Amino acid sequence: MRVLCIGDIVGWPGVKTFSRQIGGYKRLYQPDLIVVNGENASGLGITPQQAQELFASGADVITLGNHAWARREIVSYIERSSRLIRPYNYMAPHPGRGYVILDVGGKKVGVVNLLGRALMDESPDNPFYAIDRLLSMHQGKVDSWIVDFHAEATSEKYALFHYLAGRVAILFGTHTHVQTADEQVYKGTGYITDLGMTGPTESVLGVKPYQSIAGFRGEMREKFETADGPTAMNGALFELDADGSCRKVIRISSAD
Ligand SMILES: [Fe+2]
Repeated sequence: MRVLCIGDIVGWPGVKTFSRQIGGYKRLYQPDLIVVNGENASGLGITPQQAQELFASGADVITLGNHAWARREIVSYIERSSRLIRPYNYMAPHPGRGYVILDVGGKKVGVVNLLGRALMDESPDNPFYAIDRLLSMHQGKVDSWIVDFHAEATSEKYALFHYLAGRVAILFGTHTHVQTADEQVYKGTGYITDLGMTGPTESVLGVKPYQSIAGFRGEMREKFETADGPTAMNGALFELDADGSCRKVIRISSAD
């Protein structure tokens, strides 16, 4: 089984880049499942229209993150869409679901979205305990788990990777928007600290540079806007064996 995971889609430029490029990757790798992080599809958050376009272009599951609710119109949509998932480890009740279990070629594949706690403003439930509960709830009923760990700190991502090594098939990081060169397989778990971003490259993590610079200079803040100009798509392909463990990770990165 091949699982193609695409990093944070930023703004309409990111959505359109995914739509234009995904067909080429489907022909090249013939993925059985495509998982896309879409929490920045609207700059902050995602609209139903953007989710629909990502699904129509080929995404099987869209994951979210700390900005899941920035566009409130997604609330009624997420209640109806089992394949758009928000972080699983909120403390308080939230709309939608934090994971989905799909039938992929006769195998049960679970995809879960977790939010990190280190250097993040949100205070979710501890992701280590949350994933333990989820895995034990479905013990023996899921062949492979895929975890999108939406987190800031590299250390928290590595710690969760080693905590889950041998228990999940894939753990990829999102949120920091810069692809890391540390893809690896350990105890049958495929890992990369960050998939990277799908969006404008002449930017600060997708945002117009002058706006980010103004923020760091302590000037009056504007509402961040997605940058213009050239774009790229980033992610990773994970190859799983018949027993559900990962054997290979291939980073992908392509200018549009
Ligand atoms: Fe994020």
